[in-house]
Amino acid sequence: MKEKWFKKAVGYQIYPRSFKDSNGDGVGDINGIIEKLPYLKDLGIDFIWICPIYQSPMDDNGYDISDFLAIDKSFGNLLDFKNLIKKAHDLGIKIIVDLVLNHSSDEHLWFQKAISSKDNEYQEYYYFKEGRYENDVRKPPTNWQSFFSQSAWTYVESIDKYYLHIFSKKMPDLNWTNPKLRNEMKKIARYYLELGCDGFRLDAIAHLSKDNTFTNINDLELAFDSGKFSNREELFDYLKELKTEVFDKYECFTVGEVGGCASEQEGLRYSNYQSGFLDMVFNFDTCWQNGAYGSIDKKDSEIVTDVYNLKTNFKRWFDAFYQKGWQPVYWLNHDHPRVLSQYGDLNYHYESGSMLGMVLLFMPATPFIYQGEEIGMSNVNYKDISDFDDISAKNFYDAHKDNYSKEWIVHILNRCSRDNARSIMQWNDSFNAGFSSTLKKLKINDNYKEINVSKQENETKSILKSYKQFIKYRKEFIDFIITNKIEFIDLDNQDIFAYQIKPLTIIGNFRNFEVDFDFDLDGYEVLYNNYEILKYQNNKINLAPFQALLLKK
Ligand code: GLC
Repeated sequence: MKEKWFKKAVGYQIYPRSFKDSNGDGVGDINGIIEKLPYLKDLGIDFIWICPIYQSPMDDNGYDISDFLAIDKSFGNLLDFKNLIKKAHDLGIKIIVDLVLNHSSDEHLWFQKAISSKDNEYQEYYYFKEGRYENDVRKPPTNWQSFFSQSAWTYVESIDKYYLHIFSKKMPDLNWTNPKLRNEMKKIARYYLELGCDGFRLDAIAHLSKDNTFTNINDLELAFDSGKFSNREELFDYLKELKTEVFDKYECFTVGEVGGCASEQEGLRYSNYQSGFLDMVFNFDTCWQNGAYGSIDKKDSEIVTDVYNLKTNFKRWFDAFYQKGWQPVYWLNHDHPRVLSQYGDLNYHYESGSMLGMVLLFMPATPFIYQGEEIGMSNVNYKDISDFDDISAKNFYDAHKDNYSKEWIVHILNRCSRDNARSIMQWNDSFNAGFSSTLKKLKINDNYKEINVSKQENETKSILKSYKQFIKYRKEFIDFIITNKIEFIDLDNQDIFAYQIKPLTIIGNFRNFEVDFDFDLDGYEVLYNNYEILKYQNNKINLAPFQALLLKK
């Protein structure tokens, strides 16, 4: 049987807004991506996933779409996009675009029509509901809280109804129980496949169906239960429809984002080889394994990588999926802090950055590298709330400002916010890190003079060079990697992440101190060591801080 191309591929995620600005307006754009295609080719990338570039008021930086079939002016136009597809394909790079099926912008024509009259038929495209009255006081239909801190319902006075939004209030949820809406969304998907896109990252796909009984979670004013709108039964009917009527008609690659705590079994239901609806799904279980999520009450010293949990989370998914389905692996995406700041250490920049790359890039799954990860970009160090450009950060501030000082909230946002991943790509040490000739809204990380692409291209040893080398090795051993089973070595070890995927063994020290690791090196060839030295005695390797070894037997 011919293996699917994506099993052998390495992906790269682009957040277009902050990747490369070609026209000097301060916002990254499609032509900026075109400019950097040779860089990506040289890195060894086979496909790129591009976050939304569609027309949007940018409340959630493009995930709030006001016209699914138009390119936002800030990113370029349709010709630029066609050109990108062509140029990427000429280099053998496939294009995966974000398909946002769960919601639109409130500025979308459908929504505007929906709220234009009391019983407009477009209300069926969304979830509009009457309020509840308690002692003559009007309340939202349920006490559901959205992912972005506030109530999941917003009131529209002119029609005296509320609409549901599980993200920001400018992102009303689309009603997938309505076949008319489903047909519209299928048309949109077909349009991008006809343009030549090779597939989709399906945004927030786990949330397409809701608990249609619309009942309260508990007695509180506001409560969060992602189960009310995640991984629900009817969703699988919608996915089946998308698969048979759209994806299967094209050679379309699909990777879904399944938040809402999907289990491995649910993951398999989405994407098993036999009867899955998608090629693979992202789970969140390997992110935040340092306790940083929801850590407003934690001191910095309490944020420590739980290496054991990290490994067992990978292992659970690998065990469940072995020979049953294929997975993506990633350290971060545009919704996370930087992995170098989460699991690595700026004081051991090269060592921890290259260690993380090595651990990720030999796993039996499709790796997704997030822009800037390959040079070890780190979290931002913003001074003020106004420096943050993300609606979820702003809502977070509003939700906590009565109970915490502004300084502390800024500190927590610098630790946890999505803006960490979204700061501008550090290309070189010139003005604005070579990203743009102007900077309007977006901020720059202070360390761009030390951490940038051009510097790392010229150094003999750099994170960038190690990523390139690992991708080369991955390709050399790819037939083994996609066939053999991953075996974790010394799983109980609290500091070392080690695994074997025959004939390769990967050993990475996740600590900023030396750690002894029991391992018999007899017969092994060292393919890569991020230190000059290898301390070894009596079947024990003495690993230096963040030392990483790629071995072959
Ligand atoms: C996904 C995206 C995130 C966005 C949300 C709403 O989780 O990754 O960036 O805010 O969906 O579209």
